[in-house]
Amino acid sequence: MTSTGTPRPATPLLVSTPADLRSATTALLDDARTRRGAGAGHPSLGLVPTMGGLHEGHATLARTARGADDVVVVSIFVNPLQFGDQADLDRYPRTLDDDLLLLGACGVDVVFAPSVEDMYPGGEPLVRLSAGRMGEVLEGAARPGHFDGMLTVVAKLLNLGLPGTAADYRAYFGEKDAQQLALIRRMVLDLNVPVRIEGVPIVRDADGLALSSRNRFLGADERRAALVLSRVLGDLRARARGGAPLDLEAARAEITAEGGVDLDYLEIVDPSSFAPVGDRGTRPASALAVVAARVGAVRLIDNAFLPPVG
Ligand code: PAF
Repeated sequence: MTSTGTPRPATPLLVSTPADLRSATTALLDDARTRRGAGAGHPSLGLVPTMGGLHEGHATLARTARGADDVVVVSIFVNPLQFGDQADLDRYPRTLDDDLLLLGACGVDVVFAPSVEDMYPGGEPLVRLSAGRMGEVLEGAARPGHFDGMLTVVAKLLNLGLPGTAADYRAYFGEKDAQQLALIRRMVLDLNVPVRIEGVPIVRDADGLALSSRNRFLGADERRAALVLSRVLGDLRARARGGAPLDLEAARAEITAEGGVDLDYLEIVDPSSFAPVGDRGTRPASALAVVAARVGAVRLIDNAFLPPVG
């Protein structure tokens, strides 16, 4: 049900072209405005960009938007520009039927699932965004070009979702992809994109593993081994809370000692610039511990906010 008591369809409206997306959201926003009545302010549109292969983390994004916005759109598009490796792109999970069921249960109004041609009608884009310095470290160093491709498609999705009628506009991203979220915030600031970016906390399985579309590729032993990542982050947070030294070297050694886990990085960074903060001395008011490792064939990332030291 909406805040005004209208029943929501169980299945979202599925559209694939930018023109159909615009007419669907315009009609839904006009309805919402009528239901709100004169003088009740603009209706709002919430956009949740995804690549499909949806799980409870995405459902949380969609439910957060549903709780805040009159009209909720989820996009599903596996963006070739952000994959360096064709094999990784080919095996990215494509589960549209299951995704629609999950999004229907979250009360999503519209699913925008364009083809590559719908998104890039001129072929491979000649003009792309550059993530700059912040896009070259950590995940950017491991996946050259990834953040340029990600920002290019997010800019397009934000433009395509832009309400065609007076409305507030928000877009929702998970905090698990912390560097992605920081870059999107920075793009919106640097390019004056008229949207409010909302970060949504990481969703974890009961054993602590951060949800990811790629977890389905982990075998049982790999999954058990992967838990070292959230365990080490939890220990760092507990030490930070208790005022104990963080000792990144010891934390890295614990991960490296776990069989089958190939550590890429464990760092403490400023969450808005991704500049390294280190494990000694005064940290800024908010610092983020970020980790990436390969477990079997699967690259996993995770992070945890650390409280400031006195
Ligand atoms: O986080 C993702 O799923 C993707 O990087 C995004 C933001 C949908 C862009 O393709």
